Amino acid sequence: MSSDTTSTTEPNPALRDGPKVPPEQSVLGCKDVTKTFGAVTAVDDVSVGIDEGEWISIVGPNGAGKTTLLNILNGFYDPDPGGQVYLNGEDVTSLKSFKRARRGLGRTFQGLELFESEDVLENVMTVRAVKDHPNLLEALAFYGPGRKTEAQNMQRVEEVLDYLELWEYRHSEIAGLPLGIRRRVDLARSLVLEPDVLLLDEAMSGLTFDEKYDMIRFITDLHEQENLTLVMIEHDLEVVTDVSDRMLVLQKGGIIARGPPGDVVEDPEVRRVYTGVD
Ligand SMILES: Nc1ncnc2c1ncn2[C@@H]1O[C@H](COP(=O)(O)OP(=O)(O)OP(=O)(O)O)[C@@H](O)[C@H]1O
Ligand SMILES: [Mg+2]
Repeated sequence: MSSDTTSTTEPNPALRDGPKVPPEQSVLGCKDVTKTFGAVTAVDDVSVGIDEGEWISIVGPNGAGKTTLLNILNGFYDPDPGGQVYLNGEDVTSLKSFKRARRGLGRTFQGLELFESEDVLENVMTVRAVKDHPNLLEALAFYGPGRKTEAQNMQRVEEVLDYLELWEYRHSEIAGLPLGIRRRVDLARSLVLEPDVLLLDEAMSGLTFDEKYDMIRFITDLHEQENLTLVMIEHDLEVVTDVSDRMLVLQKGGIIARGPPGDVVEDPEVRRVYTGVD
């Protein structure tokens, strides 16, 4: 139910406030973050603060800056000077992405960055090895000779594959698997690093109805059972409204609305820019 007390044709001012949680005190947050690529401002002065155990959705048209924002939060990109990123209340702006990952920040990828000619187990195991060997080459070298002695890593990998109902696919080559399974393998890769906060970049994109249902089930269970904090980029507003606590709308790099999903989707400005419907 909407808490909008303004006219339905006017943008709701309550959705134009700053971050609910001060970024400096958040589990994950950023302050005054801008990212330019040449003449393009992909992210424009964004401040966000996420509470422990929250499920935040980020929506917005193509090219709005959603993936770029995730890349800044997890350290793939540096923000332009002046912007800050916080993880568990600590300024991690200068911390590399693998170090943020080791501190509990996981992510999945819009374009799936899997090793196509490797099987599921190898794809997941390699990432787990990165936990102890942050340099990918070291991890790959370690993975060969070290695999039999890494009982602990294997146990976590088995747990995750079992949880995501991927065990039967463990010896299947990635290239031959349907998208729903591939997206689950990507999720498995993030989970073996035991994240406290997980960033999901269109984890349901391109999936069939049943595949999407499975993915939502897995993510919802993780959120509920492990109190995982989630930041999810997702285009399906019905899914977003169903599952998330708060929603954030990006347009042209800036946040144009944020708040409870039910209120945000009813906001006329959001409807105009995001759905094209007045
Ligand atoms: N590495 C890069 N170099 C140059 N421009 C980039 C780079 N990454 C993103 N951009 C540009 O920044 C803008 C935001 O892109 P981004 O991928 O963050 O959008 P998005 O909201 O994730 O879009 P989509 O819904 O299509 O995934 C776009 O104009 C894009 O072309
Ligand atoms: Mg994107």
